[in-house]
Amino acid sequence: MDRSAPVDHPIHDLLRRRWSPRAFADRPVDDADLRSLLEAARWAPSSFNEQPWRSIVARRHADPIVFQKLVGCLSAGNQSWAHRAGVLMLAVTADRLAYKDRPNRHAGHDLGLALAQLSVEATARGLVLHQMGGFDRDRAREAFGIPEGFTPMTAVAIGHLGDPADLPEALAQREHAPRVRRPLTETVFGATWGEAAPIVGQGSGAADGRLEGGDQLGGTSVEGDERLAGDGRLASKGRLAGGGKLTGGGRLAAGGKLAGGGKLAGDGELHGDGELRGGGKLRGEGKRQGGEGGEGGEGT
Ligand SMILES: Cc1cc2nc3c(=O)[nH]c(=O)nc-3n(C[C@H](O)[C@H](O)[C@H](O)COP(=O)(O)O)c2cc1C
Repeated sequence: MDRSAPVDHPIHDLLRRRWSPRAFADRPVDDADLRSLLEAARWAPSSFNEQPWRSIVARRHADPIVFQKLVGCLSAGNQSWAHRAGVLMLAVTADRLAYKDRPNRHAGHDLGLALAQLSVEATARGLVLHQMGGFDRDRAREAFGIPEGFTPMTAVAIGHLGDPADLPEALAQREHAPRVRRPLTETVFGATWGEAAPIVGQGSGAADGRLEGGDQLGGTSVEGDERLAGDGRLASKGRLAGGGKLTGGGRLAAGGKLAGGGKLAGDGELHGDGELRGGGKLRGEGKRQGGEGGEGGEGT
């Protein structure tokens, strides 16, 4: 199931593909993969390099007693799906800095960074994860002997994506709900709090219309049937004349990626149905009309 984010501007595929499912397959996480996830978190930056993160980690099949103790700390709603995950983790922060024993105001920030790195590593390895604030902190403290000076922050379910049909009906529906985010104009401000910064405001390419001119259009999104003459992303039908990514049907004239149906006339990658006329890679099903170096429509 592809639940890639409908981004307004191009981002790395690993970030676009990450989402938080509740359906986990009954399949263990490979130990080496799990160690790499923990290693990815370990190498996150942190204030004063204090690395204020700690964690309790249990594999469902290999560490069943600890795993069940973690399940027992989750809220009932989270228990109903997270008990099937291959791995459960409880992420904890150290409240104070070793440096002068001051309160660490950035502990939560640093843990978030570590978990972000872990989630990118998981996505790269074909794993999924779902973070949870819904758990009983006092119960976790007691169950695992977490001392004063440390705060249980976030539980995380990690595993392989499962079938939503295995979830209770209400949860299954949420697996298909649209993925939404506030627009950048509501979260990125300039001179005045609450007012969009120029970089995300007018002229950022997020509107309909005919867009031309390289620089200004770098990494923009056009949602309608339009023509995008610079680099960027064209999400619907139309013609993309520069390099970039075309996710709908249409024609991409230069190098870049064409993810939907349509024609790719120049070099680049064709991921969906369509025709690839120039050199480049053909990753989905589709037709090659010439060119070299393609992978031949193997549906990879
Ligand atoms: C710190 C944190 C706590 C969360 N707590 C819960 C939770 O208790 N239960 C749950 O089902 N989802 C929880 N989520 C998942 C969010 O609801 C989810 O990330 C958000 O809706 C965005 O969806 P996406 O991750 O699929 O993009 C939590 C996420 C974070 C980062």
